Amino acid sequence: MQGKGSYQANTYNLEFEAEIQRLKAQVLLSWEKEARTLKWFGLADGMNVLEAGSGPGFFSEKLLELLPNSSVTAVEIDPVLHEKAVGYLEDKAGDRVNHVQASVADTGLDDNTFDFAIARLLFVHLPDPVAAAREIFRILKPGGKLVIVDSDADLFWLTNPPLSVEIIREKFKEAIASRNGNLSIGRNLCRILKEAGFVNVDLEAVVSHSDIIGIEAFEPLLDSGPILQMVKQGLITESEIESYLVSRDEFVAAGDRLMMSFWLMACGEKKSTDISDNSQAFSQQ
Ligand SMILES: C[S@@+](CC[C@H](N)C(=O)[O-])C[C@H]1O[C@@H](n2cnc3c(N)ncnc32)[C@H](O)[C@@H]1O
Repeated sequence: MQGKGSYQANTYNLEFEAEIQRLKAQVLLSWEKEARTLKWFGLADGMNVLEAGSGPGFFSEKLLELLPNSSVTAVEIDPVLHEKAVGYLEDKAGDRVNHVQASVADTGLDDNTFDFAIARLLFVHLPDPVAAAREIFRILKPGGKLVIVDSDADLFWLTNPPLSVEIIREKFKEAIASRNGNLSIGRNLCRILKEAGFVNVDLEAVVSHSDIIGIEAFEPLLDSGPILQMVKQGLITESEIESYLVSRDEFVAAGDRLMMSFWLMACGEKKSTDISDNSQAFSQQ
């Protein structure tokens, strides 16, 4: 059993509700491109899909809309977020969604169950990402795929005018590491998949740009709640965030401001052991 990871929704932001809205904005920002890439990796309607670390259910909702004949099993460790997702999806998905309150490291789900698994913004927070990937490997069918969506602290955002993020980025890396997460996980995703036994590992980037989707889509992500929460927790001082806050005000006031963000999507396949195993993998009717 793994220890606690680095994400707790009720202490990640100053206000719990602000954190829920931040998660929602993060889903909306890049959903269309993520969906396109998921389909390119092989996600198809009718598949039995696992979503690990599903949070309040905004990404699950999008998956259920994209895949009207699929069922989605949403595994979430946090009992409050689990309940929130149950309530949020109740009228939207009926019995096509199956909620499991468990750790991704020990789901209790049966071997060889899912055609496709997605873990979005989860592995960054896990104390033992390879163990989690192995557990997903176990519950995927032969021929099934896992896509891990995460970023990397040194990619994350580019802006004009530039935001002064150097100090807070380093402090965030330290804070997440002290809670057993890894903010630089993006560069390690391929190795994690290979170590867990996946083959045909591939990596794509999803880029969102304000010149394409509008600057408004990015604004909720500039919520300073997570940074102010770090100040409250004594992980960073007020003087250390000052240059960031000044640059953020300048950024918000700039008429021609732009912002881009990068998610990485790594995909691995659970190899079929022999030709007869191919029959277990998903085939569209
Ligand atoms: C940053 S949120 C992302 C939520 C959602 N995937 C999304 O993209 O909006 C990370 C989620 O993973 C959950 N989580 C963290 N550790 C977990 C674990 N070991 N097993 C299952 N879920 C976990 C958190 O409670 C949280 O809901």
